Amino acid sequence: MGRDLLKEVARNRKATISAFCDIDPAALRQAQELAGGPIKQFSDYRQMLDSNEIDGVVVAVPQDQHAKISIACLEAGYTTFCEKPMALNVKQSQAMISASQRTGKGLMIGQVLRYINVYRYILEEIATGTYGKPFAMRTIRTMGRWGSWSKPWRLRHATCGGLLLEVNVHEIDLMLRILGEATSVTAFGSRFVNDEVDYEDFVTAQITFAEGKLGSITSGSSDFLGKNAGEVFLKKGTIYFDSVTQQLHIRRDGEDRRTLPYGGIHPDWETGTYREMREFIEACLGEHPVTIPGEEAIRAVEIGEAAYLSIRERRTISLPLPRN
Ligand SMILES: NC(=O)c1ccc[n+]([C@@H]2O[C@H](COP(=O)([O-])OP(=O)(O)OC[C@H]3O[C@@H](n4cnc5c(N)ncnc54)[C@H](O)[C@@H]3O)[C@@H](O)[C@H]2O)c1
Repeated sequence: MGRDLLKEVARNRKATISAFCDIDPAALRQAQELAGGPIKQFSDYRQMLDSNEIDGVVVAVPQDQHAKISIACLEAGYTTFCEKPMALNVKQSQAMISASQRTGKGLMIGQVLRYINVYRYILEEIATGTYGKPFAMRTIRTMGRWGSWSKPWRLRHATCGGLLLEVNVHEIDLMLRILGEATSVTAFGSRFVNDEVDYEDFVTAQITFAEGKLGSITSGSSDFLGKNAGEVFLKKGTIYFDSVTQQLHIRRDGEDRRTLPYGGIHPDWETGTYREMREFIEACLGEHPVTIPGEEAIRAVEIGEAAYLSIRERRTISLPLPRN
């Protein structure tokens, strides 16, 4: 992911990549090739932060290190972008927010799904207000084994936070954008098939939101086909999206159904990763505040954390979770 973000920074004329840090020498070599010019290389992020030649830092290490490294970046005085999930739990996330507030430096989190065409389109359609208020949403995102994404840290709950934080934090963030403030989480889950991980490979979570709105998330890594789909129910319309058919169906009350192939939804829009890096660079230059602040991203972490707590303790978890 760090390399993907590096490519997006490299093609933005407002930014120069001056330094890169990784504990793996092979990753440093690849970064040098992608950067398009000579960059300083570090194997210890603390030395990079001392170098004083940077305005902002992009953190794309495994999430068990997000809090520690992001807080160090903020305290060194840099606007900081950190990949999703913000951290492994709300306490770590809150410590990151507090560091941002203390230092006055912006903290942006890579909840990029909201910038990806299909989901951005859904959010923009809902924002027109012409479909009425959303009152319920259901998502299913299931996959098989990790395959080429398999890394030791991704296979353990202690380092990745389980599938809900590692993967579904994207859909959770989308649901929060649509349904607003979450009030409780009730979840069930187990490990049925996937013996490469030490966490649940199938989870269903029911989430309540302010004003009684309802959310449902199905997550899994025990699916031999793979699916990323969902429905948004609004007072005057309904939206379905489905990665299997690669189609979005949308209908406003009193109008015909529209079916949009994913590939036809604004191919002119900038990609999600380009946009998040563009906005981060602009925030580093002081052109505007960060656009996906930690205060928003912590709420997605909270739902994932509460869901696993609900599974372990077999009860409904009321939100918010304690943050200190
Ligand atoms: N936005 C998305 O859709 C998306 C997609 C993939 C990954 N991610 C997130 O990006 C992050 C990285 O994921 P990945 O797939 O690139 O993982 P990865 O394991 O492939 O890469 C992580 C890199 O971090 C380096 N690293 C680890 N500890 C370090 C340290 N202390 N100092 C410097 N470098 C260190 C590793 O050597 C490795 O090169 C994770 O938080 C992941 O959840 C987000």
